[in-house]
Amino acid sequence: MEFDETKIKMSVTRRGFLTTMGVGAAVAVTGRYASGASSDETVMLPEEMAKIRLHVNGRVHRLLVEPRWTLLFVLREKLGLTGTKVGCERGECGACTVLMDNIPRYACMTLAVEAQGFEITTLEGLMKGEDLGRVQEAFLEHDAFQCGYCTPGQIMAAEGLLKDDPEPSPDAIRRGMSGNLCRCGAYTHIFEAVDEAGKRKRGKS
Ligand code: FES
Ligand code: FES
Repeated sequence: MEFDETKIKMSVTRRGFLTTMGVGAAVAVTGRYASGASSDETVMLPEEMAKIRLHVNGRVHRLLVEPRWTLLFVLREKLGLTGTKVGCERGECGACTVLMDNIPRYACMTLAVEAQGFEITTLEGLMKGEDLGRVQEAFLEHDAFQCGYCTPGQIMAAEGLLKDDPEPSPDAIRRGMSGNLCRCGAYTHIFEAVDEAGKRKRGKS
């Protein structure tokens, strides 16, 4: 049977293209790991792993982790909480911000073993069933994002700020949000959304 190449190319939709890319990437990754450990690789023994308990979004998770694993890696890859984003992975962008005992922390700069004993809140923990939290609503209504990649981190930073200072001044908002970068430059709308979320939390809007 002969294939009509033109027809095949035409049938590749934009969505299909992305799907194909996804499959390609998955195959590439699978291939790398499927090859197994080479003889000069170090394999950690189970007794070298650390048993930890993490309190995340009101639930306790018992996990076996490598001591070098970051909280960011464990949240995303072991607990499936992908609302926490991977950005610079070196404490510069804030995309990975979560709350630990209500204080914003970079999950990429925190080891999972260090996070024990804290109440960790991720973006998923702000939802009440299908309902958005107040900060999430305010971000949506103020168009406080463009590509949206920084948004989960911005929202977590705003939650932390408003817990610490329920009525922040414009300066306090700028300072409080200064650890979170937005490459799309949506800062004006982000600051307005934080101000609005503060008012809503205080019942003034
Ligand atoms: S990914 Fe953590 S600060 Fe950038
Ligand atoms: S909305 Fe695109 S990086 Fe902030």
